[in-house]
Amino acid sequence: MRHFLTIKDFTKDELLEMIALAKKIKLQTKKREFVPYLERQTLGMIFEKSSTRTRVSFETGIYQLGGVGLFLSSNDIQLGRGEPMRDTARVISRMVDMVMIRTFEQSKIEEFATFSKVPVINGLTDSYHPVQIMTDYLTILELGVEKPIVAYVGDGNNIAHSWLMLASKLGFELRVATPKDYSCNQEIVSTALEFAKESGAEISFYSEPKEAVKGANVVTTDTWVSMGQENEKEERIKAFNGYIVDNNLMKLANKDAIFLHCLPAYRGYEVSEEVFEAHADEIFLEAENRLHAQKGIMVWLDTHREDIDE
Ligand code: CP
Ligand code: NVA
Repeated sequence: MRHFLTIKDFTKDELLEMIALAKKIKLQTKKREFVPYLERQTLGMIFEKSSTRTRVSFETGIYQLGGVGLFLSSNDIQLGRGEPMRDTARVISRMVDMVMIRTFEQSKIEEFATFSKVPVINGLTDSYHPVQIMTDYLTILELGVEKPIVAYVGDGNNIAHSWLMLASKLGFELRVATPKDYSCNQEIVSTALEFAKESGAEISFYSEPKEAVKGANVVTTDTWVSMGQENEKEERIKAFNGYIVDNNLMKLANKDAIFLHCLPAYRGYEVSEEVFEAHADEIFLEAENRLHAQKGIMVWLDTHREDIDE
């Protein structure tokens, strides 16, 4: 049985299989052909943090695949009152067919997966947001970017880490620009650089956004204040001064460069109103693609599960 906790657990071929499945199922969905790949299956969706896209896309996605989604806010289940993750996993995974979790530490989702009888999907942790980055890759392909040169400008957070993993596995160019004190996790960077040796990915780091963006064909960013960092807001806004993706910065990218944002976006901080609105079609295609990319991942995991019933 496989879990989808981080991109680093998958080979390039496996990741591309998921993307291919996502494309196929998207096409079927667009033709209103709802193939019940996951008929009568239940997806448990545990949220310890807020969500708009992740909740709606997983819940709608599993329904369109013939199953049902169970929204479980940690405020409403015993997990929120201190029931251990491992016990929650041992109970819920006996009742549902797949689980998606959004939580804080990566170790929490790993613990859940260790005790789970069914595949577990990472719907965002402090370290990674792998379903988002698979979505972004699907979007890049759809928008016709053949040889991605991705410039990520901003916080060295879960989104940046997921880009590092994806680029290093698939072998495309990634430039990451962060303020010195907000750089990526060094262990994750080292792992990515190891993978990059094999895949041929070019990965580079900058403290000057302009350097990273020069000649890129995909520019992307994320909020400067992730969920759980609300009390650092003031100092972060100061530290990220100069990291806004605005027209001046976009001008340095390729003429046809696309701009992606996982959302929610904070205009005037990580992205200017002008850049956001000029690229709204790309950004909201990216948002829609959460639905399709995650279907590909869920169906892939389902076809790779062993018969675990005793
Ligand atoms: N991009 C993303 O995961 O959005 P939500 O936090 O709304 O789920
Ligand atoms: N880095 C952001 C992503 C939100 C989808 C966060 O963790 O809050």
